[in-house]
Amino acid sequence: MKKIRKNTQQKNLLGGITPHQFLSEYWQKKPLLIRGASLDFMGLLSADELAGLACEEQVQSRLVINRQGKWQAEHGPFDETRFAKLPKRDWTLLVQGVNHHLPEAATLLQQFNFIPHARLDDLMVSYAPDGGGVGPHFDSYGVFLLQGQGKRLWRISEQADLTLIEGAPLRILKNFKAEQEYLLAPGDMLYLPPKIAHWGVAVGECMTYSIGFRAPSAQELAAQFLVYLEENLNLQGLYADPDLKLQKHPAKISKQMVGRVANMLNKIKWDKADVANFLGSYLSEPKDGIVFDAPAKMSLNDFCKRLKTNGIALDLKSQTLFHDVYFFINGEQFEMSSEYAETLKSLADQRQLAAPKFCDKNLASLELAHVLYRWYQDGYLQFSQHQEAD
Ligand code: SIN
Ligand code: CO
Repeated sequence: MKKIRKNTQQKNLLGGITPHQFLSEYWQKKPLLIRGASLDFMGLLSADELAGLACEEQVQSRLVINRQGKWQAEHGPFDETRFAKLPKRDWTLLVQGVNHHLPEAATLLQQFNFIPHARLDDLMVSYAPDGGGVGPHFDSYGVFLLQGQGKRLWRISEQADLTLIEGAPLRILKNFKAEQEYLLAPGDMLYLPPKIAHWGVAVGECMTYSIGFRAPSAQELAAQFLVYLEENLNLQGLYADPDLKLQKHPAKISKQMVGRVANMLNKIKWDKADVANFLGSYLSEPKDGIVFDAPAKMSLNDFCKRLKTNGIALDLKSQTLFHDVYFFINGEQFEMSSEYAETLKSLADQRQLAAPKFCDKNLASLELAHVLYRWYQDGYLQFSQHQEAD
């Protein structure tokens, strides 16, 4: 994996303020414009490469076209010929999850490690000719908008009126009133908290990189937690009513029956450890359509031999989280003894692990090697191409 030039790029990423200051003053609170956030940043892929991704089955992509003030949206995957038929201006192509396909994109996201991985959604990249954009709208999640090639004019507003145009094929604000505008050049970045109205319009050809954060709704979290509880519940006993009394109406659900069942349901218990395990599984779950390619067969011994020299890296599509000694990868949970938990934490944080850290013992006998082997077999991790010094 490409090494990030921490000293130059990361210093400027937040415009000279520390991640700590960013979190306390701006995160989810107010917009922040950072000129030259990513020095020399000209983007990670060309418009043609982006269009190529938008033609792939597993990739989520959209085309948004504005024809004489009317918004149109089309969803990918697209046929290659679609792009040749587009108008000269006023359209944009948006591709989600570019970090799942491009190692450089995953490396870019590592620079945003001051925000927990559990909050990170993905890297979306857009390309637009002059005039292109997705219209005035708001997002319910926060986003860093990093300008790649070309320029984009952002108009933003903290307006309270977030009414959307009814029946539009995408979420367009009915009454957008810009309060600020910023022209972003390559390497400039705009942080927008959730619900800030914004509209970015390409000034000439441009590409924008959106580092987006997920914000599940209370309803979604609750519904998913109930699914988790159902899968992990093990209540004993059967409904019983040895004290049953004769009822006037046989069709009536008696108060006694309701009471007995309420007592049974009260036995459903959960604590913070359940919440943590639920979050690990749920938030590391791959999005729809993501598939992992299993590698060619390799024995545990051969795997360990290679592990000693190569080091490993998580697959670009893998999502890994942990709490305590519990690890979650792509929706699955693993427990690791505290002796090796630190190694696995480092893999989860950095997405890669250099070989020397765990090559001093008989690897094949280690619990750690077994877990890594399993992840390797599932296509969740691969051997690093080359060894990287820490
Ligand atoms: C874009 O890249 O054109 C859209 C990003 C956004 O407005 O959220
Ligand atoms: Co937006």
